[in-house]
Amino acid sequence: MNLAEREGCALIIGGSRGIGAAVASNLDKLGWRVGFTFHKHARRAEKFRKSLSKNCHVFQVDICDLKSIDQLEQYVATSLGQIDVLVLSASGGLEWDKSSDYAFEINVNAQKRLCEKFLPYLVQDGRIVFLTSHEAHFYNQIEPYEPYAPIAITKKAGEMALRQLLPKFAAYGVKLEIVSADIVEGTATAKLLERNDPAHIAKHRAQIGQLPDPEDVAKHIVQTCLSDVDNNANIRTTYVWSPRGRYAGLVNPCSSPDDVTTNATN
Ligand SMILES: NC(=O)c1ccc[n+]([C@@H]2O[C@H](COP(=O)([O-])OP(=O)(O)OC[C@H]3O[C@@H](n4cnc5c(N)ncnc54)[C@H](OP(=O)(O)O)[C@@H]3O)[C@@H](O)[C@H]2O)c1
Repeated sequence: MNLAEREGCALIIGGSRGIGAAVASNLDKLGWRVGFTFHKHARRAEKFRKSLSKNCHVFQVDICDLKSIDQLEQYVATSLGQIDVLVLSASGGLEWDKSSDYAFEINVNAQKRLCEKFLPYLVQDGRIVFLTSHEAHFYNQIEPYEPYAPIAITKKAGEMALRQLLPKFAAYGVKLEIVSADIVEGTATAKLLERNDPAHIAKHRAQIGQLPDPEDVAKHIVQTCLSDVDNNANIRTTYVWSPRGRYAGLVNPCSSPDDVTTNATN
C-alpha cells in the first residue's frame, strides 16, 4: 500500500529541534509512529516528546559513537520495528569542544554508518532522507559563506558518500531523497551566520525574497516522502526553495541518469 494511504513509521535522527523536530511533529499529526533522537539536550527533547502523541519515542544517541548507535538499534528494534522513512537531520562541525576532524566524522562517516545500520529495518520503497543545504549541495559552484565552509565541504562529501551507497539501497528497494534547503530561519546555522555578521541573514534574505522556516522544510519532506519517485528512480533531489539569488541558474551538480531532480517547493 502506498505510504500516502496508510500510517507509517519514521526514525528521525536529530529530531529534537529545528527541522527534524518539525518533521516529527508533522508526521505525528498524520498518525505515524515516530522515533526521534537527540544528543545532549535531554530536557528539551523530553519537553518536545510530551508535545507529541503517545505514538512517539525519544532516544538519546551520539551518532559519532559506535556503541551508542548499536544501542539505538536495539531501541529501534524493540519499539519501532520496521521503518518507512529514515530522516538524517543531525549535523554539526563547528562545536568548540570538538577536534578539527569532527565535521567529517559527523557529516560523512556517521551518516554512512546510520544508513548501513538501519537499511535492514527499512521497508521496500522506504526512503532515506539526507538533508543538506544549498551552500553544501552547490559547493564548487559558489564560494561557501564563512564560517560555514567546513560544514558545507563535509555535507557535500556526505551527500557524495551516500550516493555511492545507492547500489546497497537498491538491493533493499530503498530510495535516497536528497533534500537541499536554503538557509532556514531561526536555526543554529542562521544564528551562526548572524553571529559572524549581524546583517548576513537580512542581506541573504533580500536576495532570495523569503527564506524557508523549519515548518516549510518539514512539509516539503513529508510531501516528498509520500509521493512516488518518477521513473522508479533510486534517487531524487528536491529543493526548498528552488535555487535563486546567489544560487540562481545552478543545477544539480551530482546528477546521474537515475537521479530525478525537481524543484518541488516554490
Ligand atoms: N539550518 C539551516 O539553515 C539548514 C539549511 C539547509 C539544510 N540544513 C540541514 O538540515 C538538518 C537539520 O538542521 P537544523 O539546523 O534543524 O539542526 P542541527 O542543528 O543541524 O541538528 C540538531 C539536531 O542534531 C542533534 N545532534 C547534534 N549533534 C549530534 C550528535 N553528535 N549525535 C546525535 N545527534 C546530534 C541535536 O541534538 P541536541 O539538541 O541534543 O544537541 C538536534 O536534535 C541538518 O542536516 C542541516 O545540515 C539546515
